Formats: sequence, C-alpha cells, structure tokens
Amino acid sequence: MFIPQEFIRKKRDNKPLNKDEIQQFVQGVTDGSVANEHISAFAMAVFFNGMSLAEKTDLTIAMKNSGNTLSWDLNGPIVDKHSTGGVGDVVSLMLGPMLSACGAFVPMISGRGLGHTGGTLDKLESIPGYSVLPDDKLFKKVVKDCGVAIIGQTSSLAPADKRIYSIRDVTATVESIPMISASILSKKLAEGLDSLIMDVKVGSGAFMPTYKLSRELAMSIVEIANNAGVKTQAILTDMNQSLAYNAGNALEVREAVEYLLGKKINPRLHAVTMGLCIPALVNSGLAKDEKEAKVKLEESLSSGKALEIFAKMISMLGGPSDFCDRYESYLPQAKIIEPIFTQESGLVESMDVIAIGMGIVGLGGGRIKPEDQIDHSVGLENIINLGSKIDRHTPLCTIHAKDRESFNEAKKRLLEAVRINDNAVKIKEIYETIG
Ligand code: URA
Repeated sequence: MFIPQEFIRKKRDNKPLNKDEIQQFVQGVTDGSVANEHISAFAMAVFFNGMSLAEKTDLTIAMKNSGNTLSWDLNGPIVDKHSTGGVGDVVSLMLGPMLSACGAFVPMISGRGLGHTGGTLDKLESIPGYSVLPDDKLFKKVVKDCGVAIIGQTSSLAPADKRIYSIRDVTATVESIPMISASILSKKLAEGLDSLIMDVKVGSGAFMPTYKLSRELAMSIVEIANNAGVKTQAILTDMNQSLAYNAGNALEVREAVEYLLGKKINPRLHAVTMGLCIPALVNSGLAKDEKEAKVKLEESLSSGKALEIFAKMISMLGGPSDFCDRYESYLPQAKIIEPIFTQESGLVESMDVIAIGMGIVGLGGGRIKPEDQIDHSVGLENIINLGSKIDRHTPLCTIHAKDRESFNEAKKRLLEAVRINDNAVKIKEIYETIG
C-alpha cells in the first residue's frame, strides 16, 4: 500500500524516489486519496532537496498521464512553443501560423494572464466570437485543416498539475525548478508533441528573478523533455522591456495581424519570433538547417500564407471570416487614447517591466482576482524602446484607458517605471540557446 508520509519522508531525507511510488503519489493527487497536507509537505521537501533527472522525468510523465493526452495521425510533425511569459509577448499568434505554413501541426494549449504577464487566451478573446474552448472534435479538425489551433486548457488536461499548483501557490513552494519544470511540461507533453521550443525570459519582467535561475529552469526543462522523448531546446530571451510595440490584449492582436500583413514589424518581436521558429523547424525535421528554416519562414510571411492560416483558424474557431481584412473595426477601442510624456530628457536606461505589466492590470487589461472580467480594449501602444532618446516632446507610450481615473493611475505607474539617464544601453533580444 502507498503511504504518503513514507514517500514524503524519503524526499525529506534526500533518498531517491522510484518511478512506481511517484506514479502512486500522482495517482493519489488525482483521485483525492492524497491529502493537501501531503502535497504541501512533499512540495516543500522538493523545494529544499530538489530532484534528480530521473525523478523529475517520472513526475512529469505521471502528471501528464493524470488526464487526457492527445494523439495525432497527421501528415507532419507535431510542434509547439511555450514561453515563461512577459509583457507584449504576442509571439504565439505569429509563430503558430508561421510554423504551420512550413508544414508543422501546432496544437497550442495556452494560458491566461498571470500577475503582470499577459495571456494568449485573453488576447485571442479580443476577437469577437473566438472560442478558446472548442470541443475535442473541433480542436482536432482545426489542427488538421489549418495546421494550428490556439485554445485553452480543459479540466481533463493534467489535472494533477492543477491541484499541485494551487497548493504550491499558497505554501511558498512555487519557486522550485523541479516543480515548475514538471508543471509546465506535464501540460505541454499531454499535447502529444514531437518537438517543443521553450522561450525562457530573462530580465526585469521575467518569471525567474535572475539570469542564473532562468538558465537553470531552461536546462531543467530541456533535460526532462528530451528524456521523456520530446526533442526540446530552450532559448533565453530578453524581458527587460515590452517585446512588442504594444501591450494589452486587443492592441497586441492588432500588432500580430499587422506583423503577418507585413505592415508594421517590430524588429525585437521579429528577432524573437524567428529565433524560436528557426530551431522549431530544424528540430522537427522541416528544415535541414537554420539557413533553410529562415528562408521558409520568410516565405511564409511574404507569400501571405501565415496570414491566411491565422485568418482561417480564427474563422474556424468562431471569429469573423474577414477578421484580418477588417481587424480595426472588429477589435474593441478604449474611450481615452492619449500619449504620455516625461519631463526628463536623456536615454531610456531601464524599465521595471513588472510595474508596466501591473499598469496594464490596473487599466483593467488583466486580473486582480481570478474571476475578474478583462477589458480587452485597454493597454499601451508604441511603448518607447530601451536606449531611445527621449525628451518632453517624445511620448513614452500612448495609454488606452476606459476612464480618466485609470488613465491617471497608469500614467503615474509608467512614469515611475522608466529610468532615464545619459548612459548608452546595450540591448539584446536573444541571450543563449540551451540544448
Ligand atoms: N507556470 C506553470 O504552468 N507552472 C508553474 O509551476 C509555473 C509557471
């Protein structure tokens, strides 16, 4: 018989856990026979003692198998990307259609905004009619016919993670690299992937507080996923400023459409999107090397194929069939749209990206409580880049707000979040590839 306290004691005393007992623990988490106290004590023991690669892999696979897993019979590799999240990170909306245009199938199960970070599902819900929770049949049909479907997590996907995460959240055990790795990968591997590309953010708006910890997380995820049979690389990318020009749900969707249309391409966003798409194509065997991958991806944009796929996915998931032609009229618009200015002049030296993200939450573009409704229209447009020259005539950004009170609050936060100095700033988009 499985005795949870014996299992916890082993981890507490740094003794190795075997696959069987890890599976029984996760089974107990899923069927309710393991109590909240057991889960929290186990999470704390892991927090202090860590886990070996074998233990992390067994935990990930057991959590993945705690619910439904997808399987595919398609004419191409099954590929996905996961990002640890940030501000203005709208990459998924372009990456999915671009990879699909190059022959991949992308069943992307995404999340909502968390804390200061935006969520892909919240962004897509700016599109009238778009359903983020289609039934399984429609999800599979969209993946088959479009090559990509971006949807939300159902309760049947990795239910053990849902329970463990909610307990970690209230027991100061979120910040454990083995637990974070197993949590992220249990959900991604349940998609039935052949390969995965991870975007691990680094900087003032990153989930992990230091470069060293972001790197450790990237290494851990790459090792576990490859050990579990899914070819995986991680890219460490910059989150010391918004990734896109715009941040906020409808504003980011607009930027994604304009990127796919070739109308307005932010070089930082392009560098990170390509930086993730290129290895995704090579790892899945759709390109023989980086050079070929780059050519194929550029062609997916210049031919309009990626845009066409994005439009088809939106239409099949309930959005307007002419969304990409008339996105300006479909996307919600805020009442107040005004630029803000600083009284200082010099170079933009640094930004507190968490404060910027919380500025958007304060405008109503994110949630304070999980049940909060989002205002998709609000956010920031044309956010100034790090290193740019600024004076009292150069806008820091344009705020889109629902009323004067939230506008003024966001303005105050943003002015405080940006540091202006005379120092030149070194800017990077991609730091390192792991794996
Ligand atoms: N995101 C997840 O899905 N799980 C974690 O543990 C942390 C971030």
